[in-house]
Amino acid sequence: RRHAIAVLPGDGVGPEVTRAALTVLDAAESRFDFTTGRTEVPLGADHYLERGELLTEGTVEQLRAHDAILFGAIGSPRVTPGVLERGIILALRRAMEQAINLRPVRLYPGVPTPIAGLTPERCDLVVVRENTEGAYVAQGSSVHVGTPAQVAVQESVNTWYAVERAVDFAYRLAAVRRGRLTLCHKTNVLVEAGKLWTAVMESVGERFPDVETDYVHVDAMCMHLPVSPERFDVVVTDNLFGDIVTDLGAVLQGGLGVAASGNLNIAGNGTSMFEPIHGSAPDIAGRGWANPAGACLSLAMMLGHLGEGEAAAGVEAATTAVLAGLPALAGEGMGASTQELGERIAGLLADG
Ligand code: NAI
Ligand code: MG
Repeated sequence: RRHAIAVLPGDGVGPEVTRAALTVLDAAESRFDFTTGRTEVPLGADHYLERGELLTEGTVEQLRAHDAILFGAIGSPRVTPGVLERGIILALRRAMEQAINLRPVRLYPGVPTPIAGLTPERCDLVVVRENTEGAYVAQGSSVHVGTPAQVAVQESVNTWYAVERAVDFAYRLAAVRRGRLTLCHKTNVLVEAGKLWTAVMESVGERFPDVETDYVHVDAMCMHLPVSPERFDVVVTDNLFGDIVTDLGAVLQGGLGVAASGNLNIAGNGTSMFEPIHGSAPDIAGRGWANPAGACLSLAMMLGHLGEGEAAAGVEAATTAVLAGLPALAGEGMGASTQELGERIAGLLADG
């Protein structure tokens, strides 16, 4: 079996964690008897500063010809905030119709969490984040910029079409998990969007009579998630809230370096993309202090997506075994560099 994958290492710690993940992929290929053709695509700050280029039509077409995309992270203090994030990652999610951002929040056995008393049994949920619109549509306008009269309007767009496909995906997932779906929103203030999301939940829910549903405001979610994550199975939410609550979710899992994600094209008309949820972490880039677990667990999700279920399970098990043995989950305290951890995970995988 052969899979064509595109690799976008990106900026900062992106290339560091991606290199570690590719070392793990090498080991997975020899152990589980498949191969990948890898195309490295140099999108990010350097490419932008040298050539003024963000995501082009040509690159989108090139990526379309691959079975999956493995992404590091984008963003650099050398570039105005938003240019790379909007011009590359958000553009890619939209161009490839990656409707769903799937973000497991799972504490693995033996992994230290800063939440006192939290156990793996109590922390196993999945956030389904709508991935193409909401406040991330990049629509808005400003007047009187640079004066005290400056006004900025930033709109959030919610279409029945996109919300329905996210909610439908979330119901299906809940139906094969523990049968619980929670809508996370802010319907008491964002009433227009809230009405649409609530109506979609009810409409789609008619097809899933066995899935129990409830609703939690996003602010309350920030309290419930660390205190009682066991009350959640699948959480469906909009683009912005999903971004925010999953960084909090990552803390439960041990830190931002641990959390994985998949940007899924569910219509079959584009390529899905897998990435750790963290950004380019310029504060620690270049030191080997980034934890590659999030990238490796994203690799595992990618392998599952490619139909390499055994390899996916193997990578997940090896990654979490190495994680569980670490003295700290980020920085110098990990006792090994990003790449050394990748090699350790690869070694474990090779040994079976
Ligand atoms: P960040 O996620 O890069 O970093 C937040 C904190 O977590 C930092 O203290 C960092 O050192 C730590 N951290 C991140 N990844 C880690 C890892 N693998 N191991 C250990 N610690 C880790 O978020 P920040 O600092 O807000 O953003 C930095 C840049 O990344 C910005 O340009 C931002 O726009 C961009 N960004 C890009 C994303 C993407 O490419 N999908 C997602 C989030 C942010
Ligand atoms: Mg984020």
